[in-house]
Amino acid sequence: MKIDVLLGLQWGDEGKGKVVDVLTPGYDAVARFQGGPNAGHTLEFDGKKYVLRSIPSGIFQEGQINIIGNGVVLDPVLFREEAEALEKSGTDIRKILKISRKVHLILPTHRLLDAANEKAKGGAKIGTTGKGIGPTYTDKISRNGLRLGDVEKGDLSAYYAARDRHIKMLEAMGETPEYAELEKKWIDAIDYMRSFDIIDSEHYVNNLLKEGKSVLCEGAQGTLLDVDFGSYPFVTSSNTICAGACSGLGVAPNKIGDVYGIFKAYCTRVGSGPFPTELFDETGKTIRDLGHEYGAVTGRERRCGWIDLVALKYAIMINGVTKLIMMKSDVLDGFDEIKACVAYEIDGERIEHFPYSIENVDLKPIYTTLPGWKTDMTKMKSEDEFPENFKKYIDFLEAELQTPIAIVSIGPDREQTVVRNLKNT
Ligand code: GDP
Ligand code: IMO
Ligand code: MG
Repeated sequence: MKIDVLLGLQWGDEGKGKVVDVLTPGYDAVARFQGGPNAGHTLEFDGKKYVLRSIPSGIFQEGQINIIGNGVVLDPVLFREEAEALEKSGTDIRKILKISRKVHLILPTHRLLDAANEKAKGGAKIGTTGKGIGPTYTDKISRNGLRLGDVEKGDLSAYYAARDRHIKMLEAMGETPEYAELEKKWIDAIDYMRSFDIIDSEHYVNNLLKEGKSVLCEGAQGTLLDVDFGSYPFVTSSNTICAGACSGLGVAPNKIGDVYGIFKAYCTRVGSGPFPTELFDETGKTIRDLGHEYGAVTGRERRCGWIDLVALKYAIMINGVTKLIMMKSDVLDGFDEIKACVAYEIDGERIEHFPYSIENVDLKPIYTTLPGWKTDMTKMKSEDEFPENFKKYIDFLEAELQTPIAIVSIGPDREQTVVRNLKNT
């Protein structure tokens, strides 16, 4: 059996949570493979809205196993908040949630370091989520990290050693770290985590595949935030791309089946960094208002702009996307015209590939304009009902991107999902 991967093709917040929830009934297990509580994945069903940060978005469907893989970084305090909220809402997560003992733990001092690093960068700050992601992955790569397995049996000596090292770093940066309260909550949360099923997830996932079970991997962030291929340095600190599913779960590349690439019918970005198609005018504001483009975790305003096909083609290439999923199509329902960036003009030259840098260059997006469909699509049940101009938009995108659009989302609710050709490509 192969493992399918669903991941973001833009700068995150494409709607991964919603679609993972919708696709989960077709799988035996769902697994997160990277990122941490910097993610905010929103699901809506039965008139209720849920935001997940570290727990996979398959958690609300019945019967599937949900796995937090080794590539994830976990904050025990935030994990506890999230898990307790789910338990309160009646979801029996202990039965279905498994956590890799190789996940790296976010310490309170990682969060303090995240804030101190941002402060030190001044105007060049990344605009991180402040969740300690960068410092935790830094410790992992520099072989100083703390894994769940290290504290699983109650010995916290490795924690104290890491904490003391962080304090020295913070003091060297001129900070006076206050961590006593945070530490107490953190240690309590470690105790709480010990009551969960902590596993060797690489063996578990490979055994599932051996037994013929199907697994869906849920990406966090998006390809343009990937630490290698995104708009570096304005990126997150993990591999958000398909390869990240291999290293973040311990599955071999030849085990990857379908790669679902998810994108919005337009584009957004939160935090600092270049964004070629960003709109600073009324149109950008209209997209933000209609799409409720505010961060699921931080509440920050998301920057909005037109769809960028140069960047999308690059993301499709890097990930080996087999099927596309287009989200938030309904947000453009009222527009007279829709624009799509088909090339960049950089220093007077037309460029159709995503270049080394899109920052500090004289970049002008070159647009194709398509007619809007001016129809409320939010209650449509099948693609036959789609207005002609929307069908033309889909045809245009499929021709440009050379990849089929398998699912079209027309609203935040589970039900507002039109499946076109999920099986037959
Ligand atoms: P994720 O991080 O990729 O899971 O995405 P987020 O949850 O951060 O952001 C997506 C937002 O769009 C959430 O508020 C969703 O409820 C909402 N959403 C998802 N799909 C659609 C859609 O097709 N139309 C509209 N209007 N909203 C959607
Ligand atoms: P989901 O999974 C959108 C952005 C931050 C910042 C940069 C680095 O919900 O799509 P970090 O805290 O990771 O060090 O921040 O990455 N970022 C996201 N933007 N969606 C996300 O996750 C993000 N996770 C991180 O805004 O620019
Ligand atoms: Mg999000």
